[in-house]
Amino acid sequence: MECATEVDMSVSQAIQTRCSVRSYRNENLDRETVQVLLDAAVRAPTAMHEEPWAFLVIQDRHLLKTISDRAKPLFAEQIRRSGSERSSRSFDHYASPDFNIFYDAGTLIVIWDKPIGLFNEADCWLAAENLILAACVKGLGTCVIGSALEALNLPETKSELGVADDYSAIAPIIVGYPAGETPASSRRKPLVLAWR
Ligand SMILES: Cc1cc2nc3c(=O)[nH]c(=O)nc-3n(C[C@H](O)[C@H](O)[C@H](O)COP(=O)(O)O)c2cc1C
Repeated sequence: MECATEVDMSVSQAIQTRCSVRSYRNENLDRETVQVLLDAAVRAPTAMHEEPWAFLVIQDRHLLKTISDRAKPLFAEQIRRSGSERSSRSFDHYASPDFNIFYDAGTLIVIWDKPIGLFNEADCWLAAENLILAACVKGLGTCVIGSALEALNLPETKSELGVADDYSAIAPIIVGYPAGETPASSRRKPLVLAWR
């Protein structure tokens, strides 16, 4: 199965064909398109109707590179601390000066939460999935970039970005026009613990 490139597909087609895209055309998203994605994000369920999310859109490629360069050593250290370096996946590319953790996508949307109640992080992740599916329906590629989180949450990064201290970056998502097809990744069958 190939990753979705069809425009205006149904939600169920988007769920079945969405995949993480790591190769993008050098073409920027316009403001209207980004707005459609943000509007989809805020339709997510939200615990106690708190709507704790806030969004930051970065389309400045120089700034994206700066954040990527800051994130790489921090993420490599996180991997080392967590013992994930012993997994079958290789993270060696994080040491390469040429590697851009945002895969040269022209747009990064970061969903932040302001801790104001229960389940704020869950709300933000649900908003993230809405955004990702809305992008997929429009033929756009996305990828969650968890490796950017530690760098985004540094006080100096927040201050450079003009984000208040009490916000936490929860879901960084790159968005752009895919360059070519991406093979969809596999999934195990749902593990059902009980069905009574
Ligand atoms: C919380 C989270 C963090 C992720 N961080 C990264 C990342 O830093 N870099 C990356 O290339 N992919 C990242 N991904 C994408 C996953 O690698 C991807 O979703 C997984 O391999 C399944 O592939 P698929 O999305 O194409 O189905 C992340 C996904 C999630 C949910």
